[in-house]
Amino acid sequence: MNEKIKFYNSLDLTLSEAENIFSNAVDDSKSLFHTPTLSTFINKKISSRTVVLREFNKEQRFLRFHTDSRSNKINQIIKQPSSAIHGYDPSLKIQIRLNGQIKIHQNDEISKNAWNQSREMSKICYSVSSSPGKEIIAPEGYDIIKEEIKIEDGYKNFAVILFKFDYLEFLFLKGAGHRRSSFDWSNGDLISNWLIP
Ligand SMILES: Cc1cc2nc3c(=O)[nH]c(=O)nc-3n(C[C@H](O)[C@H](O)[C@H](O)COP(=O)(O)O)c2cc1C
Repeated sequence: MNEKIKFYNSLDLTLSEAENIFSNAVDDSKSLFHTPTLSTFINKKISSRTVVLREFNKEQRFLRFHTDSRSNKINQIIKQPSSAIHGYDPSLKIQIRLNGQIKIHQNDEISKNAWNQSREMSKICYSVSSSPGKEIIAPEGYDIIKEEIKIEDGYKNFAVILFKFDYLEFLFLKGAGHRRSSFDWSNGDLISNWLIP
C-alpha cells in the first residue's frame, strides 16, 4: 500500500509532491490548496484569512494572491512582511505549511499583468465603493451593480501579494506511519529533513 505513495520515503519526491499540489491548485478550484490560509501580523496580533491562489512559481518559490489595496492589511504587511501560508486537504491527507515574506505590488508591471490576466468576475469586487473592513450602519447599498460601474476602474484598488517562501513543512497522515518533513532555504541552499510527526 505504502509503495503506491511514491513520495512516502523520499524527501525529493515529497518536495515535488508539494510543488505539484500548489501548481495544480491554481486552476483546480476543487483543491483545498486553491484557497489556503494566509497569516500576517496586524500590529502584534496574527491575522489569518482565506485567499485564492493565483500563481505558483516553483523556481522562484513564490505564490501570488490578489487583494484590495484599501485593506488595512496592506500597510501592516509592508511594515511586517513576515507571513505564513497553511493548507490541508483531507482527501489527500496532506498539510503544507509555508513561511516567507510578502511583497505588495500596486501600479507596476506585476500588478498590471495580474489584472490583465484576471477574469471580469474577479475584477468586479475591486469596485466596491469603500475600503473593505470599514464599519457600516447597514450592509445594503454596498452591493456592486455591474451595470453601474466601470470594471476597469477597479484597478486603482487592486494589489498583488507576492509571497516568497523559504521554509516548507509537509505532513502526510497515514495510520501509524505518518510522514513529516521540512525544506529550508533560509540559508541559501536547500536543507531537507525528516521530522518526527
Ligand atoms: C473562498 C474565499 C476566497 C477569498 N479570496 C480572497 C482573496 O483572494 N483575496 C482577499 O484579499 N480576500 C479573499 N477572501 C476574503 C478574506 O478571507 C478576508 O475576509 C478579506 O481579505 C479581509 O481580510 P483582512 O481584514 O485581513 O483584509 C476570500 C474569502 C473566501 C471565503
